[in-house]
Amino acid sequence: MKIDLIKKEYLKKLKLLNHYNKKYYDESKPELSDADYDLFKKEIQKIEEKYSFLKTLDSPTIQVGFKPSKNFKKVSHKIPMLSLANAFSEQDLINFEKKIKNYLSENDNFTISYSTEPKIDGISASLIYKNGKLEKGLSRGDGTEGEDITENLKTLKDIPRKVLHKDFPQEIDIRGEVFIQNSDFKNLKDKFANPRNAASGSLRQKNPDDTRKIPLKFIAYTFGHEKGLLIYNQIDFLKKLSDWGFKTNPFNKKITGIKNLIKNYNELEKKRADIDFDIDGIVYKVNDFAMQKRLGNVASAPRWAIAHKFSSNKAISKILDIEVQVGRTGALTPVAKIKPINIGGVLVSNATLHNEDEINRKDIRVGDTAVIERAGDVIPHILSIDIKKRLKNSKKFIFPEYCPSCGSKTIKEFNKITKKVDAVRRCSSEGYYCDKISIEKLKHFVSKEAFNIEGFGKKIVENFWKLKFIKYPQDIFKLDYSKIEKLDGWGQLSVKNLIYSIDQKKNISLERLIYSLGIRHIGLENAKLLSKHFTSFSKFKNLSVQSDYEDLLNIDGIGETQVNSIKSFFLNKTNLRVLNELEKVLVVKKAIQNSDNGLLKNKTFLVTGKLNGISRAELKSLIEKNSGKTVSSVSKKLNYLIIGDKPTKKKIENAKQLRINVINQAEFMRMLNKTS
Ligand code: IVH
Repeated sequence: MKIDLIKKEYLKKLKLLNHYNKKYYDESKPELSDADYDLFKKEIQKIEEKYSFLKTLDSPTIQVGFKPSKNFKKVSHKIPMLSLANAFSEQDLINFEKKIKNYLSENDNFTISYSTEPKIDGISASLIYKNGKLEKGLSRGDGTEGEDITENLKTLKDIPRKVLHKDFPQEIDIRGEVFIQNSDFKNLKDKFANPRNAASGSLRQKNPDDTRKIPLKFIAYTFGHEKGLLIYNQIDFLKKLSDWGFKTNPFNKKITGIKNLIKNYNELEKKRADIDFDIDGIVYKVNDFAMQKRLGNVASAPRWAIAHKFSSNKAISKILDIEVQVGRTGALTPVAKIKPINIGGVLVSNATLHNEDEINRKDIRVGDTAVIERAGDVIPHILSIDIKKRLKNSKKFIFPEYCPSCGSKTIKEFNKITKKVDAVRRCSSEGYYCDKISIEKLKHFVSKEAFNIEGFGKKIVENFWKLKFIKYPQDIFKLDYSKIEKLDGWGQLSVKNLIYSIDQKKNISLERLIYSLGIRHIGLENAKLLSKHFTSFSKFKNLSVQSDYEDLLNIDGIGETQVNSIKSFFLNKTNLRVLNELEKVLVVKKAIQNSDNGLLKNKTFLVTGKLNGISRAELKSLIEKNSGKTVSSVSKKLNYLIIGDKPTKKKIENAKQLRINVINQAEFMRMLNKTS
């Protein structure tokens, strides 16, 4: 049979199955006997086994027998089931506590005790007890109205049907989380996408006998309405819950102070992988009930509680496309466009694939189902691919041989130092020739650590580029403002502001300027070193004339990689033109030099071996403070070689040959009139 036909037949059967399910689960009017229904289901499963590409996580056969019913009675919660605000950082917690203190009009010294409880990622439930007897069990629903799932909840061993303790309140709505342990989920993997879905699906079965088959657990943590509860804080309440026969979380704790909350958070995050249930954060609750009452709620969340989410989160989604982006240095970065998915409170639709090697290693393809991880502020990335879910007609991803932006050949460089072929493929064009590289260079030029032109963000760079207002950095200083004023979204005032912020930046330090040029391997630190070395823009610019690149190697921190990159920058005629044009419009401040009248004036030093009681970094700054310089290799330019413990013999030999002074640490200190 042809693929199309198989697919058509399969989809027809799925449609029918959905119809039978609806009749049975939602309308309680089954159209097939149980035996016939099972046979029909098996038929579909057989097709899926034979043609595995047909089956997806949405397949109703995965849900069949576990399909949640829509037929439960709706019941209002006497006290709404609230949700929680989220915190992702220490700052969020500081703000949370500050707001509480402000609200209570307490000063900074006021200490608040919290009940800290791991946040289980399951399904919340409300259990209403009257005179010690479980009367009703509800799902959360929308928070104000839940579903009556009493009979299903009664099948859970962790939920007591009767509580006969004398201090158990006459009436109480005990609330907690229904979940499946990871070890139990292993056996249910084929039927549900994740433990949370498994818990939710099993809880909402039409027949409680189906719920009973699933090893659901319950952990209690709060209460709704009550009559006769004689407890005054959360920690005591949690203790009482366990006295009454409810399970509580073994990792619950009482903590004061943000620093201690963070410590506990870090410890728990480490333990997380070893715990047999999924937790996605920690809930912090003001311990004192009277204080909770004073604080009350904002919208649908209490002011007295917050969920501190774990930063690393994973989710499963589909790769819709693989896009290759071109960066400022010509690096081609593949990015997976994924079906948008919420990971830890952030909607993710892109995931980096790093480079060509990474795609090949993991054999990542368009159409694949992937596990995506988002950790902190880092760009989300793909952890793994589910090969089982790969579509049969999927094709290996071929990395482009030509730059997607300018069509130049793409290359992988050979790194002479590491003697390895680079993992990154690059556009081989000369910078500004490639549109994408140009735009990225301009974005870098105006960025915060570079020219930092206020109000001139990435979007404006893109817009002005499209309108052909800018192509090279110097164009930023020659904008035709009368044209900008006429653009949508711009007016006299915003243009005036733009003129002001651009004019302001015409005065620039040499180090910022060097950094802004975006020379590969020249970041902020190296730009600083270079500016100290050249001291003026004209000296830097004339490097192409002097060709004294070897000299650069003497700057501590600048190596062959950097020098080669600077060389190729100056070999490019467009770059030279950019420098000349910038010189015309900018006033470049000279680099601030250390006072040059110190004891080590005009002297250069190099250390070999370990020093006593002083780090290399500290020694370097000591030399510089006294107007001396450090260099990175033995050459004619070196004046003193300082030898410490276990020096490199070769360096001493070379120094002696060149008649360089070889001194020890004590002799060096004496030069500064110091004893070490
Ligand atoms: S207290 C009044 N405590 O988190 C605060 N909730 O986003 C709300 N959850 O729907 C309930 N562990 O499903 C509370 N120890 C815990 C919790 C917890 C998990 C869940 C619960 C709730 C959601 C709030």
